[in-house]
Amino acid sequence: MPTDAVLVTGASGEIGHSLIEALAERGVTIIATDIRPLPPHIARYCSEVLKGDILDPLLHEALLHRRFGQVFHLAAILSSQAEREPERAHQVNVEGTLRLLQTSHRMAKLRGEPIVFLFPSSIAVYGLPSLEAKRCAGRVREDEYLRPMTMYGANKLYCELLGLYYARFYRRLDPDDGAGWLDFRALRFPGLLSAFTLPTGGTSDYAPEMLHAAAQGQPYRCFVRPDTTIPFMAMPDAVRALLLLAEAAPSALQQHVYNVTAFSASAEEIAAETHQLFPNSSITFDPDPRRQAIVDTWPEDLDDSAARRDWGWRPEYPRHRTFQEYLAVNIRRRYQKTYSL
Ligand code: SER
Repeated sequence: MPTDAVLVTGASGEIGHSLIEALAERGVTIIATDIRPLPPHIARYCSEVLKGDILDPLLHEALLHRRFGQVFHLAAILSSQAEREPERAHQVNVEGTLRLLQTSHRMAKLRGEPIVFLFPSSIAVYGLPSLEAKRCAGRVREDEYLRPMTMYGANKLYCELLGLYYARFYRRLDPDDGAGWLDFRALRFPGLLSAFTLPTGGTSDYAPEMLHAAAQGQPYRCFVRPDTTIPFMAMPDAVRALLLLAEAAPSALQQHVYNVTAFSASAEEIAAETHQLFPNSSITFDPDPRRQAIVDTWPEDLDDSAARRDWGWRPEYPRHRTFQEYLAVNIRRRYQKTYSL
C-alpha cells in the first residue's frame, strides 16, 4: 500500500460517491469504509473497502494496519434523522469522529508525518434565534450565531472543536508527537445538490428530492414553506472545495473551519427552476413543522470570504449553471438510463 493512501469514511453516502470518483481521476489510492456496502461502480475505484461501523474498535484496529496519509471523514447521520434518534446520532457523529481522530492521530505518529483530516461540517452549526433574525442576518460569518438547535448541528460544532483540540492542544501536550500530528480542516457546507445521488435524512433534502421526483415524472410534496431560503451548492463544487482545502499549504490557512457556498435560493425558486427543466413537474407545499423548525434556524446566506482569501475558493456552479448545465444534463441522462434498463 503506498504511504499516501486516502481514507474515505461514509464512502457509500452522497458526497462519498462523487469524492471517490474525483480522487480516482487523480490516481489516488483509496481506502473506503462504510457500514453499508459500496455500489460496485464506486468500489471498483478503491484499493480496499472495509465494511464496518465507525464505532467498531475492530474497524479502527484494521485501519491502523493500513497506511493512510489523508482522511475525508464523511460518515454521519444527517439532521432530520438525527432528531428522530438523537442518542444514536451523538454516538455516530461525535463518538465516531472522536475515534477516527484518535486513530488518525495514532497513524500520524506511526508515520512521523502530519495527516490532513478533512471534516465536512454544515450550516446546521448555526442557530438563528427567529425568522426575523434569519432574514436580517445577511451573510453569516464563521464566528456568528453558533447556537445550533439540533442534535446534528451541536454534533458538528463540537466535532469542529474536537478536531481543533487534536490539531493544536493535543499536539503540544504530547511530547512524543514529533512530526506526526493531525492537520484538521473543516468545511461548513450548505445544502448539496447532486444529479446522481439523493441524501438520506437531511433537512435540505427537499431541494434534491423535488428535482429527482420531477425527473422521474413523480409529484412532490415539499416539506418546507415556499419562502424557506438557505444556501446551496452543486456536488462538483462541494468535491472541489474538499480537494482544494485538502491540498492547501498549511501556511496559507489562517483558520481551521471555513464556510463555503455557491448561491442562495428559496424553496419556491428551486421549484421554479425544477419546473423550467421539467415542465410537467407537480410540486406542492405541505410544511412539516419539525423539519421547518430546523431549517428556519439555518442562515439564508454564508460569508465565505475567508475560504476565498486563504485557499482561492470560488464556486464554479452559480445557480443558473447548477440547474441549466449540471442538473439538466445529468439528471435527465440518469433517469433515461434507468428507464431504458
Ligand atoms: N444537508 C444537511 C442536512 O440537511 C445539512 O448539512 O442535514
